[in-house]
Amino acid sequence: MNLKEELKNLKLKVSQQIEQAKTLKELDNIRVETLGKKGPITQVLHGMKDLSVIERPAVGAFANKIRDTLAAQIEKKKQILERQALNDALVQETLDVTLPGKKVKRGVRHILSQTQEEIEDIFLSMGYRIVEGYEVESDHYNFERMNLPKGHPARDMQDSFYISEEILLRTHTSPVQARVMEEHDFTKGGLRMISPGRVFRRDTDDATHSHQFHQIEGLVIDKGITMGDLKGTLEFVIKKIFGEERKIRLRPSFFPFTEPSVEVDVSCFKCEGKGCNVCKYTGWIEILGAGMVHPKVLKMSGIDPEVYAGFAFGLGQERIAMLRFGINDIRYFYTNDMRFLGQFARL
Ligand code: DAH
Repeated sequence: MNLKEELKNLKLKVSQQIEQAKTLKELDNIRVETLGKKGPITQVLHGMKDLSVIERPAVGAFANKIRDTLAAQIEKKKQILERQALNDALVQETLDVTLPGKKVKRGVRHILSQTQEEIEDIFLSMGYRIVEGYEVESDHYNFERMNLPKGHPARDMQDSFYISEEILLRTHTSPVQARVMEEHDFTKGGLRMISPGRVFRRDTDDATHSHQFHQIEGLVIDKGITMGDLKGTLEFVIKKIFGEERKIRLRPSFFPFTEPSVEVDVSCFKCEGKGCNVCKYTGWIEILGAGMVHPKVLKMSGIDPEVYAGFAFGLGQERIAMLRFGINDIRYFYTNDMRFLGQFARL
């Protein structure tokens, strides 16, 4: 068989192999075997040295042509197989986007944290500072500086947990008043602050009492502050919390650290004042205690009551949340029952 015949047969055979190749790997093997350095075409070209000078160019050109044709065929088949591989992958890896997704469990801020943040935002919008106090306080700040000297009968209502004779868990957030007053630089203007935090009392826990709970203290001191400022401020805040239709009412009361002292009521949001079980058939709900800061309290903190006046208030966070959401047992706040806590997705 001459070289040309050999090459023709080779071409036929390899063409068929290329056609039948099923994978890119198979195809690449064919390419290496046929067109590679040790492949039959290269061999033929090597064998040309035995041919006559006249025959050589024609056989060489023929061999090159066959090599080029096979290379082109391989390239074409390669593209087909590549597309096929891509299609197969696309079919195999389809996503069913209509399948229901996996639910991500979202946490819920504790309802007391939400209540606190909401009230903080209201006061921040009025230019108040938010101050943190100490949960472990001294008798001096917790009682003395709030005009509750040792032996004062009002101390009985706030029995505490004592760490030593002089150190105790604070019974209210009011001591923060004294701490802020004595630090404030009044040459730079008046003082407006709230102080949220945890307080402690030696109470027996029941539906409405807990040995630890949360208050928010408020204090404003400046020249010329009046009861009118107190009333206007609290009315604004209470309406923000309980609704614009609410009214407020001040009733005379007593706190050792304010004079005069008031109890602030909000008109019942359940019965609109007609009388129901929430307002105990009075139309009004007691919300917080407040008053004008007692001159003695100002003096003890180095503030001249002849020049400055101020108002203060204290509210219970649990009480606010219980009223708003109809929660009838304070212990729900602390027992970490997700069935309770989970109901308060961001308000
Ligand atoms: N400290 C009081 C308490 O815990 C609440 C209170 C009443 C705070 C009147 C005040 C206020 O600042 O003016 O019972």
